Amino acid sequence: MSPDPTPLLSVRDLRLATADHELVHGVGFDVHRGQALGIVGESGSGKSLTCRAILGILPRGVEVATGSVRFDGAELIGRRDRDWRGLRGIRISAVFQDPASYLNPSIRVGAQLAETLRVTLRLGRRAARERSLELLASVGLHDPLAVSRQYPFELSGGMLQRVLIAISVSASPELLIADEATTALDVTVQAEVLDLLEDLRRDLGLTLILVSHDLAVVSQVCDDVVVMRDGSIVEAGPAPELLSRPRHEYTRSLIENHREYGIEKFLGTEAIDA
Ligand SMILES: Nc1ncnc2c1ncn2[C@@H]1O[C@H](COP(=O)(O)OP(=O)(O)OP(=O)(O)O)[C@@H](O)[C@H]1O
Ligand SMILES: [Mg+2]
Repeated sequence: MSPDPTPLLSVRDLRLATADHELVHGVGFDVHRGQALGIVGESGSGKSLTCRAILGILPRGVEVATGSVRFDGAELIGRRDRDWRGLRGIRISAVFQDPASYLNPSIRVGAQLAETLRVTLRLGRRAARERSLELLASVGLHDPLAVSRQYPFELSGGMLQRVLIAISVSASPELLIADEATTALDVTVQAEVLDLLEDLRRDLGLTLILVSHDLAVVSQVCDDVVVMRDGSIVEAGPAPELLSRPRHEYTRSLIENHREYGIEKFLGTEAIDA
């Protein structure tokens, strides 16, 4: 028996609906501590809504119809705002596409990071400033002092996403949800940010949920993959198995679409038998 049989996150029969129709039809998966789960599927398949339900930030008009989301054994569904204190942004954190929209354009990056630390970790001014520089360095920004003095518009998309990742891991979360966090970046920068997530996972013992419409992206990082389509999970399993022996036609089509981008390199010696 493994030493920690209880998953860090356990989603069961999660149904999300608006007043007149269901959007997510009973999804379920487990993520164990230190593992990385990939959620993949085309646009509109319900990936983001599923993540938002986990984070307790569903868009207005979308509600949890039934289901359970347990984090470290505790139910998250049905919590009131104040019951999220100490949880969202602290133990469970997230990064999304379009990092610029999460930063104030008129405040220097270092000050924004320091302010987060003052609020979440209750650090004093000086300690927050010092910790900010350490965090910026830890996400691979080579001149943290220079970066901290810049305004968001002065940084590239990849650098901004590193800053957002620094903010999201600043309180040492156990679970980090990255929803299309690399999608807007060009291919080289995307690979660098994925490398960073892998490093953080290893160095901080982070548990990761990585969402992408791109199977090659999740294959690079994830142990397990969930394939969603039209609000349902069509296939799930360990990444190498799912990639080398996809059972579902839709998964096969995702793999086929990616052959040209070299998904084979994630498969080791085993050829895709689609
Ligand atoms: N606020 C909302 N009100 C009504 N329907 C919504 C709302 N948000 C999302 N939906 C619908 O729910 C479905 C799933 O959306 P979701 O954003 O989870 O997809 P996704 O898999 O993240 O897609 P993408 O790859 O484009 O990010 C879509 O059909 C979408 O139109
Ligand atoms: Mg989405």
